Amino acid sequence: MTANPQGDRELLARRRATLGPHSPTFYDEPLHVVSGQGVWLRGADGIDYLDAYNNVPHVGHCNPVVVRAIAEQAGRLNIHTRYLSEPVVEYAEALLETFAPHLDKVLFTNSGSEANELALRMTRQHTRSTGVLVTDFSYHGNTASLAELTTGLRVKEPFGSHVRALHIPDLDSDPRSEEVLLTEALAEAEAAIASLKEAGHGVSALLFDPLFSTEGLLRPPAGYIAALTDLVRSAGGLIVADEVQSGLGRAGSHFWGHELYGIAPDLVTLGKPLGNGHPLGGVVTTTDLLDEFGAANLYFNTFAGNPVSAAAGMAVLRETIDRGLQRGAHDVGSYAHDLLEKLAARQPLVRAVRGTGLFFGLDFVDETGRPATAQTKQIVEAMRRKGVLISKIGPHDNVLKIRPPMVFTREHVDLLVDRLAASLDEL
Ligand SMILES: Cc1ncc(COP(=O)(O)O)c(C=O)c1O
Repeated sequence: MTANPQGDRELLARRRATLGPHSPTFYDEPLHVVSGQGVWLRGADGIDYLDAYNNVPHVGHCNPVVVRAIAEQAGRLNIHTRYLSEPVVEYAEALLETFAPHLDKVLFTNSGSEANELALRMTRQHTRSTGVLVTDFSYHGNTASLAELTTGLRVKEPFGSHVRALHIPDLDSDPRSEEVLLTEALAEAEAAIASLKEAGHGVSALLFDPLFSTEGLLRPPAGYIAALTDLVRSAGGLIVADEVQSGLGRAGSHFWGHELYGIAPDLVTLGKPLGNGHPLGGVVTTTDLLDEFGAANLYFNTFAGNPVSAAAGMAVLRETIDRGLQRGAHDVGSYAHDLLEKLAARQPLVRAVRGTGLFFGLDFVDETGRPATAQTKQIVEAMRRKGVLISKIGPHDNVLKIRPPMVFTREHVDLLVDRLAASLDEL
């Protein structure tokens, strides 16, 4: 497959020698990439791979508008955040315009982890409680306090005694009625809240990803999220929507994932796509919460939201809005959904077509109804051999993760589905 297998093996050895053997790579044989453009990644093997996986290059790999904005600002001025700078304020204004009016302040960060860490700090201080509700297969970042509430990947830190993990009801995998699932899930949430209170932690926050990305793109019963957030609020907790994966138009029907449920979070955390690869994240919140936090802490962040980051963020936001990429995600995502439904109808392995907008996947189970983990891995590997990059998610790694740059078109979907059908036929 690779034009220079010896060279790639050497590069991998050097990577292991310097970064250590634990830094993960995708695929049985790691993919060596050398350049990118739009939805395409060029491999060192000379092959152009269709990128149906990466959401960080939100407006396309090496988007010229973003590249120019970064280069121009870097050529003019880059500095830490303690001076007045027009591009930074302009970007904050433009970003906040995309939120509901109560979310009118932003604190910039350098990553999604940093955003969630800051959000938790703010919720703890406001509520004077420490208890946190997450879901039972989630990831919100790599800091010490986020490791204590990680359920979706391996961490050494013990699960925090102040954390409760909720099982999210899923209409696509649980055959019971929507009503039964809803009642059961809300009873579980009530019990979790009661146990946090009983243990003296109280409730500071519900932290959740509106698309349930790590969990495998779950489809909860109508009204579940709204009722859950009501329960948390009644217990004194705040709502944190982690939009690191689900935000910036990707859901198609809405600009931010939490809008799918008609809820009004107190804090929204941002990351991955915001700077198209330039490290940029943030916490969007209310004036009251920010004032309370600001009065009690001299919060300062050297790099976060510097002029170059702001220029990158502004260019990404402008491209997203001016090119109608949210609408595109809706149209192209619906088109993909239809084609995948047709494919699913002739594939017994498929339990459900999951997702919304430009974040979708197929859920695979074997003939006994058990997660088809091995087959899902085979499909991801086969797709790579056919020049299409996707991945897998969910507690059993049996849901395809298809989450391309937002400039993905119907033609790209045709190619993707064609290769997917061929990969399934090979099983
Ligand atoms: C939902 C979610 N939140 C937070 C993070 C952490 O973001 P970062 O890797 O930028 O620290 C991730 C990263 O995968 C994520 O998927």
